[in-house]
Amino acid sequence: MTAIDILTKAKNGGYAIGAFNVAGIETLKAVVGTAKELQSPVILEASDGEVKYVGIKELAYLVKIQKEETGLPLLLNLDHGKDFETCKQAIEAGFDYIHFDGSNLPVAENIATAKEVVKLAHAHAIPVEGEIDHIQGSSSDRTKEDPRTIQQGGLYTDPEKAQKFVEQTGVDVFAGFIGNLHGIYAQEIRLDLNLLAQIEAALPHTFLSLHGGSGVNEEDIKKAVKTNVVKINVNSELRVAYKMTLQATLNATNEIAIYKLTTQAIEEVKKVVARKIRLFGSEGKI
Ligand code: 13P
Repeated sequence: MTAIDILTKAKNGGYAIGAFNVAGIETLKAVVGTAKELQSPVILEASDGEVKYVGIKELAYLVKIQKEETGLPLLLNLDHGKDFETCKQAIEAGFDYIHFDGSNLPVAENIATAKEVVKLAHAHAIPVEGEIDHIQGSSSDRTKEDPRTIQQGGLYTDPEKAQKFVEQTGVDVFAGFIGNLHGIYAQEIRLDLNLLAQIEAALPHTFLSLHGGSGVNEEDIKKAVKTNVVKINVNSELRVAYKMTLQATLNATNEIAIYKLTTQAIEEVKKVVARKIRLFGSEGKI
């Protein structure tokens, strides 16, 4: 199945596919292991920093091996690729899906670059995700801030502008900002579901991606899935599970074998992935 087939199946089946950030063999094992246990499609994704840490070719090969070993519908996504060159490298390395994030660029430059990325990606039968409104927040640190303060600093997606952007660029997937902050905050994140419904109505033939899947009210997530969101990104909750567990393990043992120190952390990441897969409705959907 191609990436588009996998997304189409999710849209028709009324579920979303979790896009989980991986930063090495430990998180890769956690995501693929859980996908196997729950017989779920998953997207493995890596941000710029994660790609640099693991290596772009190394990551592509690790996922290729996992696809062969498990036979699961696994997709590898470049998460927030910031420029054409990075997207090109990922396409050449064998990624299955490209998220080009030009939201920090002037609109005309975002559109022009997205078009170029789409041209190259489509020549390799790879779908492209694009965005115009910067998704606020960060998956890099945990803050005690009120999420509403950060949401107020962001520009929520205008459905008409989204429609024009999709028309002009030819992106297959659209990532909007409806309050879906990156990161975890003092309170649960709430989504503007009315706005999501308007975006969906404006883009009936475009797949919808929801970033910032950590720390969001679970009823809002279920409603977003019912509104045709087919991809939900999750990073911070995996990072927190990994870090807290590793920290506890290190404090509790004199063990020095690295592979023994990460075992429990991988297990805790798996629990988060399993909870998300069930919430997104993709269990058993292979
Ligand atoms: P969270 O860190 O909030 O889960 O967001 C991840 C994300 O959207 C990656 O693109």
